[in-house]
Amino acid sequence: MSSLVIAGAQWGDEGKGKIVDVLTREAEVVARYQGGHNAGHTVVIEGKQYILHLVPSGILHEGTLSVIGNGTVVDPSAFITELDELAEQGIKVNGDNLLLSKGAHLIMPYHMALEASTEKKLGKAKIGTTGRGIGPAYVDKALRIGLKVGDLLFPELFRSKLESALDHYNEILKKICDMEGFEPQAVYDQYMGYAQRLTPFIGDASIAVNRALDEGKNVLFEGAQGTLLDIDHGTYPYVTSSNSIAGGVCTGLGVGPTRVGKVLGIVKAYTTRVGSGPFPTELTEEIGARMQERGAEFGATTGRPRRCGWIDAVALRHAMRINGMGAVALTKIDVLSGLDELKICTAYEFRGERITDFPSSAAELEECTPVYGTTMPGWVESTKGATKMEDMPSAARDYIAAAEEAMGVPIEIISTGPGREELIILKDQF
Ligand code: GDP
Ligand code: IMO
Ligand code: MG
Repeated sequence: MSSLVIAGAQWGDEGKGKIVDVLTREAEVVARYQGGHNAGHTVVIEGKQYILHLVPSGILHEGTLSVIGNGTVVDPSAFITELDELAEQGIKVNGDNLLLSKGAHLIMPYHMALEASTEKKLGKAKIGTTGRGIGPAYVDKALRIGLKVGDLLFPELFRSKLESALDHYNEILKKICDMEGFEPQAVYDQYMGYAQRLTPFIGDASIAVNRALDEGKNVLFEGAQGTLLDIDHGTYPYVTSSNSIAGGVCTGLGVGPTRVGKVLGIVKAYTTRVGSGPFPTELTEEIGARMQERGAEFGATTGRPRRCGWIDAVALRHAMRINGMGAVALTKIDVLSGLDELKICTAYEFRGERITDFPSSAAELEECTPVYGTTMPGWVESTKGATKMEDMPSAARDYIAAAEEAMGVPIEIISTGPGREELIILKDQF
């Protein structure tokens, strides 16, 4: 039995999709355990770009089973669009290679309506969500008024749960959000239409994943978002509404902790963040703009520009600990060519004191200023597409060694471009 969790160590968009795609060569099952179509995971194969949102990146390999776990939230309309887009790109998707957990919660039209209104009311304090209804869908799960994917198979049950939920929501939407409510019959008809498309995929994700592990198959757990967006361990409230850390695998797929193997942390060679919230190493001037441009740092889901900055070892050590990361894949090192010097944040200044533990609240983090304990010379040579450490300029190798030292976890994979083959594998993962 062998399983590997792939989780983001920063604020998402670390390049998880690419690494999952590469490692799927050795895996029979790839499973998503949380989040929804707020994720945008990009895979580039022979120059062709695929962006996955809810469907695991493993789908691009024939013969692999992709699983969407109970810990996710599913917008059926977006899911169907994603299936159609994959089919148009020649990717075979059917009930044999894609399983959707009946335990996953459904994103409903009122979730999006409520989120839009909440964000508007927050004004400057808004989270800057992806607007996909993710947060309100998880609210309903916790409030125990959510509808599940499996409910689509029982129309009468679905109707009665929908009616109860709308009793609650229509009042809120009218009174608090100054919006029209939703007509139960219209939503019912819409979702029963989706049910027809979804039915062949619906099953029990926990049984499928545990069976694969019993049979000695290699299983990859694909995280979405990143540690600093985790609802418990991220920069709350500027986070997503699920547990994106490795611990989410257990609850989000029905897999016991004893069955989760190694955790591979995905770390971008610099830092990015989409949406609002504190970001101590953010570079608002030239170098940040350069990273954004060279790294094509625009959201794969919403197209928003990503804020950019230096790598932050305080935040990364927090991520290594929270996830139990045993190894790191360092991505996008090629983006850093041509800089005069590079910095690594090794501590923060907080109210006149130097601290090295990541603060537990966003308010405290807002007050932190970065201490750059390491400043290193840059390199001019391109490293794009390098497949061997020997191909890297010595200054780049020094930077990688310094990042590794600052994080305290070995870098076992280095990604040197968006393409499948553009990487240096220092150690096999299975
Ligand atoms: P994810 O959400 O973690 O899967 O990451 P995204 O797909 O949102 O963002 C990563 C972006 O960087 C995508 O456009 C990838 O194609 C691209 N990418 C991944 N690895 C590398 C790399 O090593 N170098 C460069 N230049 N681009 C990369
Ligand atoms: P991947 O999987 C980067 C951010 C949003 C916002 C916050 C809450 O591609 O790394 P939400 O819509 O989830 O309620 O928004 O989380 N966010 C992401 N940022 N990458 C992602 O996914 C993200 N998914 C959500 O920008 O700040
Ligand atoms: Mg992304």
